[in-house]
Amino acid sequence: MAASTAGPLAGKVAVVTGGVKGIGAAIVARLAADGARVAILDRDPAAPGQPIVASAQADVGDYAAVSAALTRFNDEVGPIDILVNNAGWDRVQPFLANEPPLWDTLVRINLIGVFNTIHIVLPMMKGRGGRIINIASDAGRVGSSGEAVYSACKGGTIAFTKAMAREAARERVLINCVCPGPTDTPLLTGMREEESVDRLMDAIVKSTPLRKLATPEDIAAAVAYFAGEPGHVTGQILSVSGGLTMAG
Ligand SMILES: NC(=O)c1ccc[n+]([C@@H]2O[C@H](COP(=O)([O-])OP(=O)(O)OC[C@H]3O[C@@H](n4cnc5c(N)ncnc54)[C@H](O)[C@@H]3O)[C@@H](O)[C@H]2O)c1
Repeated sequence: MAASTAGPLAGKVAVVTGGVKGIGAAIVARLAADGARVAILDRDPAAPGQPIVASAQADVGDYAAVSAALTRFNDEVGPIDILVNNAGWDRVQPFLANEPPLWDTLVRINLIGVFNTIHIVLPMMKGRGGRIINIASDAGRVGSSGEAVYSACKGGTIAFTKAMAREAARERVLINCVCPGPTDTPLLTGMREEESVDRLMDAIVKSTPLRKLATPEDIAAAVAYFAGEPGHVTGQILSVSGGLTMAG
C-alpha cells in the first residue's frame, strides 16, 4: 500500500521508530493515510504490506546505527519533516527485584534512544522546520508500580520534550509528547501473561472513566494531530488514556 497523494501530510517525509508493530504500526498507517511518505527504524524487519517507502533495522540506543539510518532516509527519501520517537520497551517487576543491567537497558531504549534521534535529526531540520512527537507514557506523569525505571525514563522524555521544544523553537521545529495510557498492543499482551499484571490491568480499566484500554489507532490520531496542526503548539504533553489521568 503506497502513501496517499492527498491529505494533510502530502509531500512530507516521516520517520517512525519502533514502527513495525503495536502503536508504531498504527502511527505508520495513519501518517501514510494522511499523505506522508513514511520510513521505519526498528530493531525488527518491517512487516509485509506496511505502507512505507524505506526501513532500517537498528537499535535506537545505538547512536552510530541510528545516525546511519536517518542519514540514509534523509538522503534517499527526502529531507525529514516529521520524527516520531515511538520505540520503547519495559519489563514489569518491583524495583527491588531489578538489577542494574536491566536499568541500563531500559534507560538506553526509552530515554537515550530519544536523545539519539533528536540529536541527529535536528541539524537535518535546520532552516526548514519540522515536527517531533515523542511517545512517553502516563507512567511518566503519575508513576506506575512495577515500572519504576520505565516511569523515570518516560518522565525524563516529558521533561526533555519541554526543554527541547524551547531550544528548537527558533528553528521552527515543534516538539510535543503523547502519553498513552494502557493500550492494547503486543507489549501489553506480553506483560498480561503474568497474572498480577492482568489483575492490575483489569483494575485500571475499571477506574478509567471511559472503561476501556486505548487502541493503537487512538494514539496514532493524537500523533497525527501534532504532525499536522497549523504550527503554534509546542512543548505540550497530551494523555490519551480514557480519562485515567487528567492534566491540572
Ligand atoms: N502499550 C501500552 O500500554 C503503552 C502505554 C504507554 C506507553 N507506551 C509506549 O508506546 C510505545 C510503543 O509501545 P507498544 O505497546 O506499541 O510496544 P510494542 O512492544 O508492541 O512495539 C514496540 C516496537 O518498538 C520496537 N523496538 C523496541 N525496542 C527497540 C529498540 N531498542 N530499537 C528499535 N526498535 C525497538 C519493537 O521491535 C516494536 O516494533 C513505547 O514507547 C511504549 O513505552 C505503551
